[in-house]
Parts: sequence; C-alpha cells; structure tokens
Amino acid sequence: MAKEIKKVSDLPGIGDAAAKKLEDAGFKTIESMAVASVMELKEVAGIGEGTAEKAIKAARDTLEMGFESADVLAEKRKLVGRITTGSKELDSLIGGGIETQSITEIYGKMAAGKSQWAFQTAVTVQLPLEQGGLEGTCLYIDSENSFRPERVIQVAKRFGLDVDAALKNIFVARAYNAEHQMILAEKATEMIKEKNVKLLIVDSLTAQFRAEFIGRGTLAERQQRLNKHMRTLQKTAEINNIAVLVTNQVMSRPDILFGDPTEPVGGNVVGHASKTRLYLRKSKEDKRVAKLVDSPSLPDGEAIYRITENGIEDLE
Ligand SMILES: Nc1ncnc2c1ncn2[C@@H]1O[C@H](COP(=O)(O)OP(=O)(O)O)[C@@H](O)[C@H]1O
Ligand SMILES: [Mg+2]
Repeated sequence: MAKEIKKVSDLPGIGDAAAKKLEDAGFKTIESMAVASVMELKEVAGIGEGTAEKAIKAARDTLEMGFESADVLAEKRKLVGRITTGSKELDSLIGGGIETQSITEIYGKMAAGKSQWAFQTAVTVQLPLEQGGLEGTCLYIDSENSFRPERVIQVAKRFGLDVDAALKNIFVARAYNAEHQMILAEKATEMIKEKNVKLLIVDSLTAQFRAEFIGRGTLAERQQRLNKHMRTLQKTAEINNIAVLVTNQVMSRPDILFGDPTEPVGGNVVGHASKTRLYLRKSKEDKRVAKLVDSPSLPDGEAIYRITENGIEDLE
C-alpha cells in the first residue's frame, strides 16, 4: 500500500525543499494542494508540470473528492439549517431561509441593500430555532469597510435580543486586500467550532479582487484566485454545516441589447460555486425586489420587501 498522505511533503514528487516553498506560499495543507492549480504550483515552488499534476491529484484522492452515494447525501441534506431573512416573502422564495452547507450569493448595484442583508442575517442567525435562527454566532469579513454596528443594534432591538450580547456574537474582520481576505476565510475554520459560528458573511466577495486585478491580462489570474477563495468558502460551509452569505457587485454588459444588461462579477467561477443566487434591486417607492436566479431545487421567482430602520421587512 502507498504511504499515507498527511502533510504536503508526503505528496509524490514533493521533497522537503519544494514543501518549504509551497508552505511559504500558503500551501500548508493537503486541502490547499487539492484546490491548487498546476500553474500556481509551478510558479511558487518551481516544480515541473507533471509533478504538480501528480501532487494535486494525490491530494484530491486523499481527500476523496470524488463520488458520494445519494443516501449519504440525503442524510447530509437532513442536517441543513435555515436562517430567516426577517421577511416571510423572502424566506418562502428561498425555501425557508438562508441554507447551511452551501453558499448564498446576493448581488446588485450600489445601495441595492446587500450590506443590509448582511447586518440582518448577522442578527437573525442568533435567534432561537423556533424564531428562524440557528442559535449561533456570525463571522463577518468586511472588505469595503461598510459594517455598521448601529444598524445591527436596530435590528437586534426589533427581534427583542439583548443588544450587547448580539454585538458580541458578531466577529468582524476587515479584509485589506484580496490575499488577506482569502487568509481570513481559511482561518475561519479555527473559530467556527470554538465560537459556535453558524453564519460566515463576506461583504463584498469581489470588491478587492476587482480593485487589484485590473486590465485584460490579469483576468485569468483573478479568476484563479477567486476560484480558490470560493472553494475555501464552499468547503467551510459543507464541513461545518454553516451558512455562507456573500455579496457581489454587478457590471454592465454592453453586448446585451434587450433585457437587463447587468450581471454579477466573477463569471462562472462565482456562479457555479454559489448554490443560491439572488439579484437585488430597488423598485417603485420604497419597495425592493429580490429575484431568485439558478437555484438547484427551487423555481425562479421574485419577492418584494422593504428596508426600514428595523432592517428587512415584509410589505405587510
Ligand atoms: N436606517 C435605515 N432606514 C431605512 N433604510 C436604510 C437605513 N439604512 C440604510 N438603508 C437603506 O439601505 C440602502 C443602502 O443599502 P446597502 O446595503 O448599504 O447597499 P449595498 O451594500 O448594496 O451597496 C440605503 O440606500 C437605504 O435605502
Ligand atoms: Mg455594501
């Protein structure tokens, strides 16, 4: 039998020197090697393409990133928890609330209400089960410096929570650049069990990546980094049975002549990783619309709601 693979230097073709270089570049675990690309490994550790391919494959095999039988998956699905948005309309649109074990993405223009969703769910995740919460805490990665405790306080009051306790249950980290954001997501695992985290928020998922990788030549690299980040988030959601909520910006597509020319940033890399995608926009008066796009198990549809001082609410 082949030797058991426990650390990076156990992978085939990876000697101590290469392992050290990989480690310095952030590839410290078998998990990180499993989601790495051949190009990345070539660049950071100077190893050949063939070796890189073999090492990645061995890392994936070790983690058994292959098939799982449907009954095992069905058992896992039974454990899915849901976090209320605070609006019955919205909850029913998304099948009862924001799900654990996968990524939910909300995208829309500036002031569409994305951060309001983040404040709201950072509070509602703390509610008792019978009120639509998961009795857990929230990890909040803030990459746009838009976290506002005063909004959290308002929402907490509405739900009758102790304001101090509600604030203490939200752990906010500022992400200063894309790399930092990725590291924060990787480190999240350490805190999740310890702090009973049930929701991980990334607001905004893409802003730092967009700011750093500008111009055509850098697009491929940006997508690679984003892909890695999405995989980290996805695995974190699955392994820990927590919800991951990410916000995304939109860009305008000049080639679309009919219909809405806005589309979320990040292309297929973000699109495929997000199980549930919601497009947020403003409507007439103070109404807001959330449109469900691409859910694997729910029909597409829309819900209308409002954002008030109390956060997200139904129209009544
Ligand atoms: N206290 C409040 N009462 C009512 N509406 C608010 C309040 N605070 C923010 N909003 C609404 O939220 C909008 C900003 O939403 P935000 O979540 O910051 O947008 P995004 O993150 O999508 O750019 C504001 O334009 C305003 O309409
Ligand atoms: Mg925002």
